[in-house]
Amino acid sequence: MASMTVVTMPGDGIGKVVLPESIRLLNAVGFKADYVHGDIGWDFWCSEGNALPDRTINLIEKHKIGLFGAITSKPKKEADAELNPQLRGKGLVYYSPIVTMRQRFNLDICMRPCIAFEGNPLNFIRREGTGFVEPRVNAVIFRQNTEGMYSGIEWTNPPEQVRKAFETHAKWKHFANVPGPDLAVSLRVITRGAAERIIRAAFEYAKTFGYKNVTICEKPNVVRETSGMMETVAKQIAKDFPGIPLWSTNIDAQMMWLTKNPEDYGVVVASNLFGDVISDAFAGLVGGLGFAASGNIGREHAVFEPTHGSAPKYEKLNPSIVNPIAMHLSACMMLDHVGERDKADRIRGAIAQVIKEGKVRTYDMLRLPGGPKVFEKGACTTQQMTDAILARM
Ligand code: NAI
Ligand code: MG
Repeated sequence: MASMTVVTMPGDGIGKVVLPESIRLLNAVGFKADYVHGDIGWDFWCSEGNALPDRTINLIEKHKIGLFGAITSKPKKEADAELNPQLRGKGLVYYSPIVTMRQRFNLDICMRPCIAFEGNPLNFIRREGTGFVEPRVNAVIFRQNTEGMYSGIEWTNPPEQVRKAFETHAKWKHFANVPGPDLAVSLRVITRGAAERIIRAAFEYAKTFGYKNVTICEKPNVVRETSGMMETVAKQIAKDFPGIPLWSTNIDAQMMWLTKNPEDYGVVVASNLFGDVISDAFAGLVGGLGFAASGNIGREHAVFEPTHGSAPKYEKLNPSIVNPIAMHLSACMMLDHVGERDKADRIRGAIAQVIKEGKVRTYDMLRLPGGPKVFEKGACTTQQMTDAILARM
């Protein structure tokens, strides 16, 4: 197989700590790739007024695959205050580089595996009879990444033409007399093409990785048009996958069932906002941010990243305390994506062993408050966690 080039974008804070750790694993497992560094994050907003410089966009455009750590973003006032004084007053506006990246490369499929590792002390447990059981949660959430409730089309005080258009709908009469400044509207958009893409990707994944069902999680009984379209498309696509049953749940009920029977769910697919909610909820059952990996996958480009942010309060700690597993699992997803599943499975297998043995644990796994004292209480460093995984490989 020809060697490929991966654009590595450590970003800010602990992104800079965890991403190099994953490169150690990728090298050790024999993944043949060149790595080129891509600038992204807060520093580039401050110094050049753009958190995702064009040179980084060009690298992703060229090489198609990105591995990303995390970025820092701050509210508007702070963003303006930290901008290079020479650039102030030029109308520069801070945009999240992640959102920009998703839009620029149409990374419409967000995938988040939420898989409980045996022996992870953070796993969800459930009371049963006189004791407790630890359900084997193994769900992969497919969240539509570019439209739905996050279409970005919204107004407070919508313009007159927009109000006119709303008046064509019978239900608008309830809102017709609300003054503009008191009226906020966000538009939920679902397009059939994007719905088909995410739902087909969910079924394909279930087939490839042997999941026993696909659940479409929406609210078609109330949000009849947009959730309705998601469900209709899911039913159509399910016909192409006769061995994989399609379940349909409502988002509210799904949240309740999550703690009742989370082990029953395999692949779960949803539109943007609902997918955002479900993926955080499932991630909470399997250890939270230290374990939550994700992939943003478009037709041609894909970027893999841990779900966590830059954790600025820990960025300066040396040695570092943060858990690199979320980043490692994201790197494994990248390997799956480029057809190197055996290598990904080797890394995941080693991670599973380290967790099961339980001798090497980061502070979050020990439920300790973060800080330099965690080592005295038995926590390992970020690097020691990677070392332990390397030793098992
Ligand atoms: P965060 O994810 O950085 O941290 C939240 C909590 O989780 C903190 O207590 C942190 O210490 C802990 N945590 C995070 N990653 C961990 C790891 N690998 N191991 C152990 N513990 C970990 O979110 P927060 O504090 O809300 O935001 C910090 C900055 O990150 C903000 O500027 C925010 O905008 C940005 N952010 C960036 C994201 C991204 O790059 N995808 C996602 C979320 C936030
Ligand atoms: Mg989220």
